[in-house]
Amino acid sequence: MNSMSRLHASNSWKDLEKLGKDENLSTIEKLFHEEPTRAKRIALELNGLYLDCSRNQIDKKTQSLLLNLCDQAHVSDQINAMFMGKKINISEYRAVLHTALRSSDKSDPNGPLDEIRKSVHTNLEQMQRLTDTFRSGKLFGATGEQIDTVINIGIGGSDLGPKLVYNALKTNEDPRILFVSNIDDADLNSKLQTSDAARTLFIVASKTFTTAETITNANTAIAWLCKRLNVNDHSAIKHHFVATTANPNAAKAFGIQPNNIFKFWDWVGGRYSLWSAVGLPIALGLGFHEFKALLKGAEKMDLHFKSAPNHENLPIMLALTGVWHINFREYPAQAILPYTERLSLFPEYLQQLEMESNGKMTDKSEKSVPHHTAPIIWGSRGTNFQHSFAQHLLQSPTITPCDFIGVIKNRKNDNTRKSLLANCLAQIEALAFGNRNQKSLQGEKKASRIIEGNRPSNVILLDELSASSMGSLLALYEHKVFVQGLIWNINSFDQWGVELGKSLAKVIERQLGDEDIENESITSNANLLEKIKMSQ
Ligand code: F6P
Repeated sequence: MNSMSRLHASNSWKDLEKLGKDENLSTIEKLFHEEPTRAKRIALELNGLYLDCSRNQIDKKTQSLLLNLCDQAHVSDQINAMFMGKKINISEYRAVLHTALRSSDKSDPNGPLDEIRKSVHTNLEQMQRLTDTFRSGKLFGATGEQIDTVINIGIGGSDLGPKLVYNALKTNEDPRILFVSNIDDADLNSKLQTSDAARTLFIVASKTFTTAETITNANTAIAWLCKRLNVNDHSAIKHHFVATTANPNAAKAFGIQPNNIFKFWDWVGGRYSLWSAVGLPIALGLGFHEFKALLKGAEKMDLHFKSAPNHENLPIMLALTGVWHINFREYPAQAILPYTERLSLFPEYLQQLEMESNGKMTDKSEKSVPHHTAPIIWGSRGTNFQHSFAQHLLQSPTITPCDFIGVIKNRKNDNTRKSLLANCLAQIEALAFGNRNQKSLQGEKKASRIIEGNRPSNVILLDELSASSMGSLLALYEHKVFVQGLIWNINSFDQWGVELGKSLAKVIERQLGDEDIENESITSNANLLEKIKMSQ
């Protein structure tokens, strides 16, 4: 029997199913009434990141059953296997070592990870050299002008992580870093319109260096440079292009100069790659010391994840709360609600991290998984969402657990800090406790005015939003996703589901270009193709 079928058939799983369906399950209000200091008991803290999972219908018994799942899924052994570089990505036969990118451990100089350590170090040096040259105004383009703008061309993991971190932490003094991802040329054009060709550096960010969107946009950018600067392809690429990739040969074949290729490795998953050379826009945009601080913050979470007991382990407890909601309370979604404009891109970033990693229905032994896996991640920043979808969170019959992220100290001590925090705490309170007990509502007969409460949420408070706390926050969610994958016995590190759409699109594009191609895999498109062709 594989470990998943054991886990699913285990007494703990069955007990949790029973508890989850129990109509008398204690409400959040009752749990707080019985133990007013519950939030303090449950809260965990690391590196200025405070995690409070107390507003969930999880009592001590439920928590201990959830912790049993970790033991049964051998979570501790699997964590060690990941950190040691075992090939836990079994479908691609690869190690999963994004943690090595942020490790400062030098304790085992002749150990199995030593070669990796050296390569990571060499890469960081290469990134630092370019960063320092750029930020000190000594990087020049084909016409001798100083480069002051960077456009990162990449999609998915080659876009979302660096874009999130740069936008979260940039200051007014930092240089302009722009991000282009969509194959829709409106995306690239809008960035080119505001850029001076002579002063712009492009990063082609692609692990595979085969991604259609990225290669198409890179070619358009080369044509734009040649036209604007009146130079040939070779000169445009030589002075204005660098690549970040795990496929340096393809980057070379594309024309990128070998010394402008920043390599990473197949053991870095795309959605885990911001810690590698893919993080170059972060280093260029914020400075190398900030990039190092980001790595350090993530490493703090890694060390904690590896060593803290399960019940005190932030990623594990966050993961178990999610498992409870998804598998035993049957809440299929998860809202991500940062209360800072700077983390506006966090929901989108987490969509890839969570849904591309764990949105799977087949387990590691190719058997179907008999329950939900990754939650549907959606969300937006406060306070904006309060004026759009908060109504649904508070009163819809569909319950969506929420992760709130608040920041205690604003970098510039601005006076909106209190409003943001007050609104954040207000939403948490309203979701958990509703308004039935409010004096002003006593005797209220209209059901439409009643907010029932008992809606689950987690709260993450960051002392401040810094490179270090950002590193810890991202690593927290990375490891949470890993733990959930272990409990569901799925491989969180491949993404076979996305391939079919890519190959179908290639055929359909040729059909739209008037090629008469018969393709047995395309069965229902004839009417749409006809409609498009008639209208174009
Ligand atoms: O199509 C999905 C995906 O492979 C993601 O996993 C990845 O982050 C993205 O495309 C971009 O891939 P690449 O970095 O190879 O261009």
